[in-house]
Amino acid sequence: MNILTSVADAPTVRVLHLEDSDLDAELVREFLGMLDGTVELDRVWTADGFSTALRDQRYDLILADHALPAFDGEAALEIARVAAPLVPFIFVSGTLGEDVAVEAMRRGATDYVVKQRLDRLPVVVQRALAEAAERAERRRAEAALKDSEANFETLVHAMPQLCWLANADGYITWYNQRWHDYTGLSPEEVEGWGWESVHDPRVLPQVVERWSQSIATGEPFEMTFPLRRADGEYRLFLTRAQPVRNSRGEVVRWLGTNTDVSEQQASEEKLRRLAETLESRVVEAIAQREATHAQISELQKMETIGQLTGGVAHDFNNLLTPIVGNLDLLRRRHEGDDRSQRLLSGALQAADRAKTLVQRLLAFARRQVLEARAVDTAALVEGMTDLIRRSIGPRVAIEFKADPDIVAARVDPGQLELALLNLAVNARDAMPGGGTLTIAISEQHVGPGHPAALRHGTYVKLEVSDTGTGMDSATLARAIEPFYSTKGIGKGTGLGLSMVHGLAAQSGGALLLHSEPGDGTRAEIWLPAASTRADGTAASPAGSVPRTRPLCVLLVDDEELVRLGTAEILHDLGHQVVEAGSGSQALELLRTGTEPDLVITDYLMPGMTGTELAAEIRRERPRLPMLLATGYANLAGDEMASLPLLTKPFRQAEVAARIADLMTPATGSRPLLRAVD
Ligand SMILES: Nc1ncnc2c1ncn2[C@@H]1O[C@H](COP(=O)(O)OP(=O)(O)OP(=O)(O)O)[C@@H](O)[C@H]1O
Ligand SMILES: [Mg+2]
Repeated sequence: MNILTSVADAPTVRVLHLEDSDLDAELVREFLGMLDGTVELDRVWTADGFSTALRDQRYDLILADHALPAFDGEAALEIARVAAPLVPFIFVSGTLGEDVAVEAMRRGATDYVVKQRLDRLPVVVQRALAEAAERAERRRAEAALKDSEANFETLVHAMPQLCWLANADGYITWYNQRWHDYTGLSPEEVEGWGWESVHDPRVLPQVVERWSQSIATGEPFEMTFPLRRADGEYRLFLTRAQPVRNSRGEVVRWLGTNTDVSEQQASEEKLRRLAETLESRVVEAIAQREATHAQISELQKMETIGQLTGGVAHDFNNLLTPIVGNLDLLRRRHEGDDRSQRLLSGALQAADRAKTLVQRLLAFARRQVLEARAVDTAALVEGMTDLIRRSIGPRVAIEFKADPDIVAARVDPGQLELALLNLAVNARDAMPGGGTLTIAISEQHVGPGHPAALRHGTYVKLEVSDTGTGMDSATLARAIEPFYSTKGIGKGTGLGLSMVHGLAAQSGGALLLHSEPGDGTRAEIWLPAASTRADGTAASPAGSVPRTRPLCVLLVDDEELVRLGTAEILHDLGHQVVEAGSGSQALELLRTGTEPDLVITDYLMPGMTGTELAAEIRRERPRLPMLLATGYANLAGDEMASLPLLTKPFRQAEVAARIADLMTPATGSRPLLRAVD
């Protein structure tokens, strides 16, 4: 048996040998030759040589004689302990007694061999080398362990998860700093089974059961549950624990992590809900789109009807002007002839009805000539209560409520009276068995999101409500359409609400309707507040014909029939009339010597409109009074606001009143040119 097999894998052994005797040195070399592999031997015999060798070379083994002439083995041991503490040191001596040997071993020598028994040397050396190799290996393993522990520490402190270690029984022995930061609990508070205190008590029994199962079977643990944060909030964690096994496969400890999955869970939940509700949201979006489409086409329809209505109404209005004017004149001429008077007043009444109809159409089309001014709506309503009472009959009670000190509304007062009357009549028709009609006035401040998309600002709201039949949604949707009526042929024209809507819109406000079948109706007229105080002028013109001195009137109208009719009225009032068929003809007349006291001009004429003509005239004759005759307001309404108006169709009395107003400014209620408020 080769006793040296175990050092076979150490091919070169470097030995430092301290020895003064050549013979002994030779003997030692011989015995060392029995070692497997190569032996490299450096021999020294002085203290200097020993120290230098240890400094310059790396040795696997030191052999030292104990007694040397100039140096001794004890001193060499001292030097070696310092310079090469890990290298085995063996005394080889002929004089070493038992007690000295023991003392030498105590001071760090590895072994000793007496020279008489050098045959033991290979065994002793081999054992010393093997032990040294083992020690070196252990040191390497210890260093590696330290390294890996340092790595582990760095890892568990850097990782975003909460992390912990438990022993084989599931008793937790260590948590990373994040765990303490999250729970706000100290290591002492959570050691062992202390972690139970941060669990939701409703879930804890399942967690304990699953954890115990893993401990019993050694199966990895995985479960999602809430853990309480230091501030009391529970967050959801995915918890995993892996068993760590020794070389025999036994579980020695558990390494666990808790990963916060609250956010992930929330977004998954959101996605799931999103997917679930996708269908209904698509349906909703489509419905919304369709509703918008319907609203747009409804608006377009109203706009088209408005344009058509406006055009037709304008033509009718023009036709009515000479009819009304001439009938009126004829009636005055046939005073005393009873039969003619009856016929003529019948015709006039019909013409008046036609005039009202046309006016409503114009109102709906927002083409009405409005004389908007600051109106005290409460006073206006109070002033017409009698009229309303007479119109709705005794079975309907009237209530009137108004906030005190309401701002004035900017509206045409005559048209507002008509609008309120229309609403009152509708209310009466909806309460055949009687009921209550309430008119309420309040001041409103409109911000974003008004149901009628009104602009920001202050408004006066006039509510007319009844306790009548109400409307179903189909009727409500169509109620303001012109000619829409449920009242039967000959009973309703279907223009009442159209007129109210048109007036409110043209005045910069809105009409809103609220109604439920069986629960009455509430109509709201919203009107913009006026920037000035109410001026208190009466709405309706006087009935009698005021007389002025005979005047020379320049009358401009492109429609011959209308012009002739108006000229006739003016003649009858005692005025002299110069007629012109267009604006340019009128200017021509003025430049060639005609000196009128007053100009009356139609508004809508080919070539030059009435306002353009007025502007031309004003430049040359700034003090010449002018009247603009029109039944039709269009977008140029604002410029017209600066001219006195004569609304078509008109009777002699209205013409006379307007002229009287203009020509006698001292007693008249309106100035030559009205200020725009
Ligand atoms: N206060 C109300 N209560 C119940 N339904 C109403 C009310 N006001 C209007 N309506 C409904 O709206 C329809 C249109 O009203 P609108 O005033 O435009 O015309 P009308 O009253 O039928 O005719 P006209 O006003 O020309 O006499 C009415 O026919 C009716 O069906
Ligand atoms: Mg009506």
